[in-house]
Amino acid sequence: MVELKKHNFENLFWLHFPDGKVRLATKNSDPGKKVYTERLVNVDGNEYRTFDPYKSKLAAAIRSDLQTFPFKEGVKVLYLGAASGTTVSHVSDIIGDNGEIYAVEFSPRSLRDLVTVAERRKNIIPILADARYPENYSFTVPQVDIVFEDVAQPFQTEILWLNAQTFLKKGGVFFIAVKARSIDVTTNPKIIFERVKKEILEYGLEILEEINLEQYEKDHMMFVGKKP
Ligand SMILES: C[S@@+](CC[C@H](N)C(=O)[O-])C[C@H]1O[C@@H](n2cnc3c(N)ncnc32)[C@H](O)[C@@H]1O
Repeated sequence: MVELKKHNFENLFWLHFPDGKVRLATKNSDPGKKVYTERLVNVDGNEYRTFDPYKSKLAAAIRSDLQTFPFKEGVKVLYLGAASGTTVSHVSDIIGDNGEIYAVEFSPRSLRDLVTVAERRKNIIPILADARYPENYSFTVPQVDIVFEDVAQPFQTEILWLNAQTFLKKGGVFFIAVKARSIDVTTNPKIIFERVKKEILEYGLEILEEINLEQYEKDHMMFVGKKP
């Protein structure tokens, strides 16, 4: 029998399997439906979806001792680099019907899959746009509590700043997943992470946490911070 335990963070759970494995999970707000290769598990009449740290950098950060978790019922999130909705769907489970996720993705192919997910989950608003140009979606996106960026592109810090400046509430929290090799394949990742950190601070944002995601994603770092 699978045992369910609450995580310290809101609407997150641990599933303890009989073979001793422990997996992170969210409660499925679209029971019976998978979004990717996650497992659906029933416990006490509710369905949970395993939240895979090898498929989601948010799950990887949580499993790597993330301390800051502003995701909760009713918050508004701007998500940059939504792809086909793997992480977005778990955020959708966490923030519930009163929350909103504005999910920006510039690949039409990925957006098609995301739209299919959003048709069944009303708190996801898919936006086909390039995150480098927030002015192109500023008419749709309100002020948000959280900006989450996972675009795996050069100029990631600038993208964060442009979006945080336009949409993030004062005191709002940002997450940026930095893939060193997307910025520069020849430079040591440590140097790239230091450079990104310096840029974030120069933009006047505060850094709360630096989480090395190495255990799940090679040469990736997650910076978590705040707009003062
Ligand atoms: C690493 S994947 C994101 C995975 C996703 N965050 C998840 O966990 O489910 C990066 C995504 O960012 C998108 N992307 C890259 N640059 C972008 C940009 N400038 N604007 C919008 N999307 C972008 C890519 O098309 C790709 O789907």
